[in-house]
Amino acid sequence: MASEFPADAIGIDDFSVYVPKLYIPTVGKFAISRGIEPAKLVKGIGIERMAIPDAHEDAATMAAMSVHELMQRNSLRPQDIGKIYIGTESGVDEAKAIGTYVIGMLEQIYGPGSFQECLTVELKSACIAASYALEDLCCWVAAGGDEGRVGIAVASDVARYPLRSGGEYTQGAGSVALLVKRDPRLIALEDMIGVYTRDENDFFRPPGCSMAVVNGKHSNDCYLDAVGGAFASFAKKAIRRGKLQLREGECVSDHVSHFLFHIPYPRMVEYASAALFRQEWRGLPRWKGVEDELGREPRAEDFSDPGEHQRAEADFSRRFSKSDAFRQAFSSKVGESARISRQVGNIYTGSIYLGLASLAEQNLLCPGQRVCFCSYGSGCSAMVFSGIVREEADCPPGRDIFKRLDQRWEISLQEYEDLHEGGRKESLIFPEREFARLYIDSQGYRHYGYVSQAP
Ligand code: CAA
Repeated sequence: MASEFPADAIGIDDFSVYVPKLYIPTVGKFAISRGIEPAKLVKGIGIERMAIPDAHEDAATMAAMSVHELMQRNSLRPQDIGKIYIGTESGVDEAKAIGTYVIGMLEQIYGPGSFQECLTVELKSACIAASYALEDLCCWVAAGGDEGRVGIAVASDVARYPLRSGGEYTQGAGSVALLVKRDPRLIALEDMIGVYTRDENDFFRPPGCSMAVVNGKHSNDCYLDAVGGAFASFAKKAIRRGKLQLREGECVSDHVSHFLFHIPYPRMVEYASAALFRQEWRGLPRWKGVEDELGREPRAEDFSDPGEHQRAEADFSRRFSKSDAFRQAFSSKVGESARISRQVGNIYTGSIYLGLASLAEQNLLCPGQRVCFCSYGSGCSAMVFSGIVREEADCPPGRDIFKRLDQRWEISLQEYEDLHEGGRKESLIFPEREFARLYIDSQGYRHYGYVSQAP
């Protein structure tokens, strides 16, 4: 895989979002039954509603839904699409690529064999997979392999943790499809990427397990380390290549209008941006103002006991995240990106692109602005890259995502638990104009269909 985005204007032309119609509120019976204060879930975690897949849905049906919507929005024909790359960590088969199931579903609409010349690959790299798909498709276009065709990078996942576990209130489900092409209308990606990779046990799913093993607090720390490392690598490159010229007292993040982070839960975006701004501002004249307000930042060399240093550091972090300087930077560059995630929960590899959708749906993307993507995947790996909002960013028709989220159906705690445990075979809402998993045969092959009308 090439490691850089190309210099020509190549990037994200349009996107579509699919979220299941069912949701459970985190407050109410859910919070009561788990013995958790609602304020912790809504403020401390930041999730108000979690999207729950119905009995006929999985990562493949959701991917087909988002790709189909993207094709309709852009009047794309199958022969216009050269590649469909799907990032998922809730794959439905250990060998067969999820995209072949997706193509099978799409051909039920567009005709048998219509996607025969479309290449599809499934990428697995926890929550960063869709970003690697995006990078690879950009390189394919830049190399001229597209021959005028477009690529689609898809993220599709069901985030599921055991009932009554610490991860349970960070679940969700959904899919995002990104249209990748030359001369994109939405965001032209810049040719600089910062990466960070190391071997970690923060979150993984051994073969045969239906749910991930997660070391919650450790996963937060890995996320912060990796994103901080990838941003430092990105910043170094941006300066070395002369992409950004910093004046006295400036840092790279001053040249970014919007930060999009991976959003496992909205509060994480606050932790991530606080760590990043501290890393960026430390050593600049403005840091004196921060230390005047909060006191000296704890340094490891000032402590003989590492535990004491850790406690002082946690205390400083808490106070920094309440400081005026941080609150201002957070509300202008970060906060609004989590609007959709509050209503959906974690969708793993698509979560960062729900952030993009949040900004686009609120008309917050203005031509010429730089957007910085900070993608994270457990295991662990982070990739930081940037793009410039194009003049035509508001050309594609609106998506009514907030309206669609408001029209979803609230399910009861019992219905949620039945769906979670696979105890419910009939759909709560019968599919209509929707792809559905019909049945799994005795060999384990999955049969999908397009249901045009409820009976
Ligand atoms: N009112 C307001 N806030 C409250 C509160 C109340 N009544 N009670 C608690 N809180 C606050 C806490 O003070 C804390 O905030 P601060 O950090 O500012 O102190 C916040 O709520 C979270 O509470 P806890 O620290 O008690 O967190 P937790 O034990 O509930 O665990 C978690 C949180 C680790 C994220 C857990 O839900 C989890 O394991 N989730 C799955 C893993 C995950 O999402 N990891 C993220 C990084 S890995 C990644 O990004 C990949 C991926 O997608 C999985």
